[in-house]
Amino acid sequence: MATFALPSVTSTSRVLNSNLASLIMSADEAAALIEFGTRIGMSGFTGSGYPKAVPLALARLISDANLRGQKAQVSIFTGASTGPELDGALARAGGIQLRLPYQSDPETRKRINAGEMEYMDIHLGHVAQYVENGFLGKMDWAIIEVTAILEDGRLVPSSSVGNNRTWIEQAEKVIIEVNARQPAELEGMHDIYYGMKPPPNRQPIPLVHPGQKIGTPYLHVPLEKVAAVVLTDSPDRNSPFKAPDISSRQIAGHILEFLGWEVKKGRIPASLLPLQSGVGNIANAVLFGLLEETKFEDLTAYTEVIQDGMIELLRSGKLTCASATAFSLGPEMLEKVNSEMANYRDRIVLRPQEISNHPEIIRRLGVIGMNGMIEADIYGNVNSTHVMGSRIQNGIGGSGDFARNGYLAIFMAPSTAQKGDISTIVPMVSHVDHTEHDVDVVVTEQGLADLRGLSPRQRAKVIIENCAHPNYRSLLLDYQGRAERLSFGKHTPHLLRESLSWHERYVRSGRMLPGED
Ligand code: COA
Repeated sequence: MATFALPSVTSTSRVLNSNLASLIMSADEAAALIEFGTRIGMSGFTGSGYPKAVPLALARLISDANLRGQKAQVSIFTGASTGPELDGALARAGGIQLRLPYQSDPETRKRINAGEMEYMDIHLGHVAQYVENGFLGKMDWAIIEVTAILEDGRLVPSSSVGNNRTWIEQAEKVIIEVNARQPAELEGMHDIYYGMKPPPNRQPIPLVHPGQKIGTPYLHVPLEKVAAVVLTDSPDRNSPFKAPDISSRQIAGHILEFLGWEVKKGRIPASLLPLQSGVGNIANAVLFGLLEETKFEDLTAYTEVIQDGMIELLRSGKLTCASATAFSLGPEMLEKVNSEMANYRDRIVLRPQEISNHPEIIRRLGVIGMNGMIEADIYGNVNSTHVMGSRIQNGIGGSGDFARNGYLAIFMAPSTAQKGDISTIVPMVSHVDHTEHDVDVVVTEQGLADLRGLSPRQRAKVIIENCAHPNYRSLLLDYQGRAERLSFGKHTPHLLRESLSWHERYVRSGRMLPGED
């Protein structure tokens, strides 16, 4: 195991290696090195640690080339979502041919849903091995934001790790952005594991506790691969979370009551099992709910992102440590955390996403996964990604990594969306991300359905009774009753002509409820 090595980055210059310092150039000069048509692995995960200058400069070059009638595009692979300077700018320039794995940028979403951009939504824990196996082609470039470059060339990662190890190893050439805005105190918080060999020589990953470190705090880059170093001083995207509303507080309340029962039954300890909390406002609200709950102490987290709620739990001492691959903070919290980063260095570990989302570790630790959803059907299949079966919202993210492999897979959403015109409990999901086999608990503000040990028909009753909004409950009961009588098979009864009619009605009339349409 590597030790925390000095010299540290408190020096005024953040590029301490003289060879790499000689490669410092402007973002425009660096972007001009990149050929159109190439595949680029960029840093960045949930709006943190993404390169902020070279992608913008590349977008300008692409726009100019497109104006000259050239079809200029590149393929962009990242850790997860980034920010307006990367996804936003490149999408607006029409510059992205293929994008993967997770995105949440409005312009990117618009272009994907208009059919103008190819998008491949992959489990976040799979991306590194897909690239290493050669399934996604050769990587031409890596553009990686770091906090600093040490004298010997090792890189101090920034506010996310994502797929950076893989991009650096797989790409032919590397551009490094050194962002002076990232706190120097990030040094030592990361744990980059270099022990993963490809099958058949893969060994167990020696991680048995969320706070454990098994690698080194630094990224290694072969110096001869580095083509440019660009200096930046820009903040991460940091979009604010919505303040927890009544519905998300009720969802949080149901989950906490359920976990309390699990403790009472002796299935899990009062410190629970390591928590994973997904992206989005509702997941963040559940963390705030935990803060007010006195029953649970000495919690740990083995998760993907550290949101505002997770920081509050750490500050209160309720959460003893958190392992993730990235920060994902609102603006106020980001400022607070950046000013006291050293306080978190022993309690937060940032890892590559192939480790934060690794099935072996998630299964070993018995992670409790809590993720948002778009909709669930009466049998417990969950759609996390597609509105009306065809329009991508964000992507599956790590929800599948945690749902399939964790101790408990909890999916949550308000029982209606779009001011009540959409029921999030439907006869049949319009797209499946998590099958009935991977979903243990569905929860809305109406209540919680514990699906463990239930057959499909039993699940339908519990989901409709406990989770559906009263405006849709009788319609769902009616569907289920008729399906039980008339379905071709009676194991998972469905009326095939009707099962997606709610979605079809919404697309046609803007409402799922039957009316004058
Ligand atoms: N039909 C149509 N739109 C829906 C919908 C439905 N059934 N359910 C949610 N939405 C819309 C909301 O109306 C909202 O739209 P708006 O931004 O225009 O207001 C948007 O989706 C977000 O919903 P919100 O209720 O604010 O929840 P959220 O911020 O918690 O996000 C997901 C919910 C499902 C989009 C989000 O959790 C997600 O992307 N999940 C997949 C990835 C994941 O789980 N990652 C975590 C792994 S670590």
